[in-house]
Amino acid sequence: MKILITGGAGFIGKWLVEKCPIEWEIVVLDSLDGQVHQTSPDFAPELRARAKCIQADVQNIEDHIAAIEGTDVVLHLAAQTGTGQSMYELSKYVQQNANGTAKLLELMAKLQHKPRRIILASSRAVYGDGAYTDGQQIYYPKGRSLSNLQQGMWDIYGEDGHKLTPLPMNAHHLTKPTSVYGLTKLWQEQLIHNFCDSQNIDVAVLRFQNVYGPKQELGNPYTGIVGIFTNAISQGNALELFEDGLVTRDFVFVGDVADAVVKCAIAPQPINATIDIGSGQAVTLIEIVETIAHLLGKTADFRISGRFRVGDIRHAVADLSAYEASFGNWQPTSLQDGLAQYLEWYLERAPLPSSALQASLAEMERKGLLLTKHA
Ligand SMILES: NC(=O)c1ccc[n+]([C@@H]2O[C@H](COP(=O)([O-])OP(=O)(O)OC[C@H]3O[C@@H](n4cnc5c(N)ncnc54)[C@H](O)[C@@H]3O)[C@@H](O)[C@H]2O)c1
Repeated sequence: MKILITGGAGFIGKWLVEKCPIEWEIVVLDSLDGQVHQTSPDFAPELRARAKCIQADVQNIEDHIAAIEGTDVVLHLAAQTGTGQSMYELSKYVQQNANGTAKLLELMAKLQHKPRRIILASSRAVYGDGAYTDGQQIYYPKGRSLSNLQQGMWDIYGEDGHKLTPLPMNAHHLTKPTSVYGLTKLWQEQLIHNFCDSQNIDVAVLRFQNVYGPKQELGNPYTGIVGIFTNAISQGNALELFEDGLVTRDFVFVGDVADAVVKCAIAPQPINATIDIGSGQAVTLIEIVETIAHLLGKTADFRISGRFRVGDIRHAVADLSAYEASFGNWQPTSLQDGLAQYLEWYLERAPLPSSALQASLAEMERKGLLLTKHA
């Protein structure tokens, strides 16, 4: 089998290359984006040893058609991934994520041997705030209003003023992205569905929750909340938690994600499905910070600031039933085990100064996208 991995030099891509069966021929196509590859500006030697590596932007890959010809399965990971950044660098996200996907598909149409399957690394960001319930009905909130957030009303409320309960995210729910990043991930999905339907190519759209683990670039201040927290805690720096610290996320170990993608690539039967991938466990920011600190043998020094990012969602957790219907029992790595593996890797690296993170937050503040609740 020959597979093409776009964005294959990135965090999840590196794991995928490692997990692919040795007999597979792999082509990695990656622009080696400077924001992501700050400490790794070239393809790693182990990546070069295993895969044919091509440095190119997905928007401009015509010259590489010969290397891509004969691909059986495409794993499309190449994307700009900073949710906050997407709110002010709109055109960069639209170009690289949406136009990049369109260009990739145009190239697929020119191949003599069409791939039999395209797998997209999509995101829970396509749901926006997702679905909520009052125990009787399902609601799709419009997103949290600025005036509520400014008053510190962080949760989602029904018309009668009662707090609603978030539901685990699944593909039966409506998609209502609240960020430009989320919008572009949804466009990627729709472009791929539209193209694959017309070409009779099988599709698997995988909507990942927050992926964490070893090999995530530490120098990128726009993504990777586990890395950001670990960096601060290990250096004894005070941490800021947005809102009231009770925002929840589903942290899924990167090895589990890579295993799921490889299963999708191998599956002999058509998949034609949208599948949520997460740990299935909602964890608050306070819990994740305290767990990291505990594993590092430190005390977490955090401040709940009441600041909030426009476009952020309050809660996210995956419903794994679609995965289990296709592939059987999902047994994710526990948060403790996954973080222990992450910290072992992290501690072998030089800690990074917090200046890049502070600069990215200052930039959001200047753009009016990082606000503080009224006193
Ligand atoms: N990490 C997560 O928590 C998470 C969650 C949901 C979805 N995803 C999706 O998974 C995919 C991989 O994410 P990741 O965490 O490995 O990100 P990453 O930033 O580590 O890797 C992305 C890779 O794509 C490359 N790239 C970016 N734009 C490109 C372009 N226009 N052409 C070619 N290459 C380009 C980058 O150089 C990088 O190597 C992305 O599509 C992302 O949207 C990730």
